Amino acid sequence: MIALDRASMLDSIKSMAADYIVIDTPAKAESMAAGVVRISNVVLLVIQPSGPDVWASAATVKLVRQKIDVGGAVDAAFLVNRASGTTKLSKAIKDGSWNEYGIEQLDAVIGNRIAFAQAMTDGLSVYDLNDAAAKSEIDAVLTEMRSARWV
Ligand SMILES: Nc1ncnc2c1ncn2[C@@H]1O[C@H](COP(=O)(O)OP(=O)(O)OP(=O)(O)O)[C@@H](O)[C@H]1O
Ligand SMILES: [Mg+2]
Repeated sequence: MIALDRASMLDSIKSMAADYIVIDTPAKAESMAAGVVRISNVVLLVIQPSGPDVWASAATVKLVRQKIDVGGAVDAAFLVNRASGTTKLSKAIKDGSWNEYGIEQLDAVIGNRIAFAQAMTDGLSVYDLNDAAAKSEIDAVLTEMRSARWV
């Protein structure tokens, strides 16, 4: 894993020998986000089921749109994280009716599960733990992205 603190350093990523590079951006760092969108083939906008999370994504949506408008090739989708199976709010976000951004939303949804917090805390992947449901949620994200030929 490498950490970059400036968008100007992003171009060095393109010369790396890797099949896939995953870049996690901080929520509030627009110049970094702009640089990441510029060099990315696929953008996943991870949102939690809450108004502020959805509203906060508007800035990144704008960056994606700007790239498309100038002829850039980028696939983008919202990915709902920390959804709970029971709350009205989660259900409303999962059904996509809130989404008026013109950017699609993956059918796959990540639940609110201890395994994800545990994996992150231990510096592990959820595939190192024994929560089959958590693993199958990540599998579903990958399957959906593969069937769209995004990865
Ligand atoms: N699906 C999930 N289930 C349970 N806990 C989660 C899940 N996703 C994230 N968390 C927990 O929520 C906290 C914040 O997660 P994370 O750092 O991924 O959020 P973030 O939105 O990227 O935050 P930041 O903007 O600070 O980078 C962590 O404690 C993490 O373990
Ligand atoms: Mg983060």
